[in-house]
Amino acid sequence: MEYSFTRYLAAKQSIDDRSLNHGVYAALADDLPDEPLAILEAGAGTGTMIDRLAARGLLSRGGHYTAVDSDPGNIAAARARLGPVDLPVSVEFVTADILEFALRERVRRWDLLIANAFLDLADVDRLLPHLFALLNPGGHFYFTINFDGLTLLEPPLDPELDERVIGLYHRTMDERRVDGRPTGGSRAGRALLGQIPAAGGEILAAGSSDWVVLPRRGVYPGDEAYFLRHLLHFFEESLTGRPELEPGRLAHWLARRHAQIDAGELILIAHQLDVCGLV
Ligand SMILES: C[S@@+](CC[C@H](N)C(=O)[O-])C[C@H]1O[C@@H](n2cnc3c(N)ncnc32)[C@H](O)[C@@H]1O
Repeated sequence: MEYSFTRYLAAKQSIDDRSLNHGVYAALADDLPDEPLAILEAGAGTGTMIDRLAARGLLSRGGHYTAVDSDPGNIAAARARLGPVDLPVSVEFVTADILEFALRERVRRWDLLIANAFLDLADVDRLLPHLFALLNPGGHFYFTINFDGLTLLEPPLDPELDERVIGLYHRTMDERRVDGRPTGGSRAGRALLGQIPAAGGEILAAGSSDWVVLPRRGVYPGDEAYFLRHLLHFFEESLTGRPELEPGRLAHWLARRHAQIDAGELILIAHQLDVCGLV
């Protein structure tokens, strides 16, 4: 099977839509001024947060949206998708590493900083002070879908092997390095609750935004079956060659999990946190 990251992000959109924490979103929306906003999104991918915030009315204040992602393919897909769409804000797509973007941006300031499913991939301790420095005084942040240590796949296959595979997958997140430095890792969500105040931010609200992906009458909605297959692909990519897992056992485990998707049986629950606040 061919795997495409942009297809994965598109498939994830409906899952994020229903998972985002309503209380956190309401706390943010209530606290934002009713005037045009300059919005900056870090790790914006193909720009799905722009569709979402337009649909939810948050962009009706008008203003400008700067979407930054380091992957040129994702930015090209965002441009192709959203270029023809009539939006209440002007949108600027930037291909850049977000830390480099923050370090070179000495003059511009934004009112709202967004990161969705991104901070668990970043070196948050290093990045956050530089991101907060891009906000106007009293500017807001909205950090969503931050993975937080729990992946469940139901129904179980072999509880001992399931635990080993998932535990090892979480460990690969903790061992992930960017430029030799640690990233948010498998407990990024809860870590943010300490990292935000340490970087000078005030948390207004926090809550869970768990993904729950399951079929309805044996059929997954939208492209969510592909989303699950891509998740298994992440498992395969990160666990292949690990000495803790015999290759044959991993291959067999993956094949049985794919068969559960074919049969419309596999259920995923992943625990995540949303948080919003101001500086
Ligand atoms: C899991 S995806 C989430 C994308 C999007 N926020 C969404 O939810 O659909 C993470 C994104 O972060 C981008 N990314 C990773 N490291 C980055 C960096 N240092 N600077 C900017 N973007 C980065 C990746 O290219 C990818 O598009």
